[in-house]
Amino acid sequence: MASILIHPDTESASRATAERLLAAIRANPHAVLGLATGGTMEPVYTALIDRAAETGTSFAGLHTFNLDEYIGLAAHHPQSYRTTMDRLLFDHVDIPRARTHLPRGDSEDSAVEARAYEAQIEASGGIDLQLLGIGTNGHVGFNEPSSSLASRTRIKRLTRSTIKANARFFRSGEQVPTHAITMGIGTIMQARNLLMLATGAGKAEAVAAALEGPVTASCPASILQFHPAATVILDQEAASKLKWRDFYEDIHPGGEEVYFADTH
Ligand code: GLP
Repeated sequence: MASILIHPDTESASRATAERLLAAIRANPHAVLGLATGGTMEPVYTALIDRAAETGTSFAGLHTFNLDEYIGLAAHHPQSYRTTMDRLLFDHVDIPRARTHLPRGDSEDSAVEARAYEAQIEASGGIDLQLLGIGTNGHVGFNEPSSSLASRTRIKRLTRSTIKANARFFRSGEQVPTHAITMGIGTIMQARNLLMLATGAGKAEAVAAALEGPVTASCPASILQFHPAATVILDQEAASKLKWRDFYEDIHPGGEEVYFADTH
């Protein structure tokens, strides 16, 4: 099963996530990273930028592929995921912009754009490490409940609850996008490693459903149970509804990775 690492607080969980990204980049400076947006990732990218500077780590040889983009927003829109990623990460590290990939939200034909994005991921050799958040309804990327567990990059309509949750990033009165291009669940599952971060009480139910509930399209994140190399990093609040929480804490006290020869 996945490694479930429960940290004492949000800061420690975010830092640990950044450390894993940094370690992946240092181990393979030509790695293909899958990146994610969402408020949860903001402290991760801040920590990653700091640690990259401290350790003199270059991002110049990487390729990055983000999970998703809103349909209808041009790249330069202040709330596009492209602008968000530039502001949070790409503007602060030495990766050439051409090596950072997001679907285009304002392409003439989003279905064509989605297929081309999937092909680009494949042509890159596939994603080595995919960073993931989780929506309060269990979505990953923008794969909302009922998404096919075998899906590929495509157009998805967003649920009312996701539109409402994301409205906080838009000015009042501004139209919040209702559709997105998102990597599919099948696309995400093809990444060689998955790294999910969830923080805060608002995610506790989705986390419990994903990690301990049935594998079901009703909770797209539950597919992680089928991934051979998935790590889930949580803070106390996000872990608060896990039935086997004490067991996970016995295996990884304080969220530390401790390896025992007999745990496999
Ligand atoms: C959006 C993104 C997801 C993200 C989710 C949770 O829907 N498409 O990738 O995981 O929001 O975001 P937050 O971290 O802000 O709770």
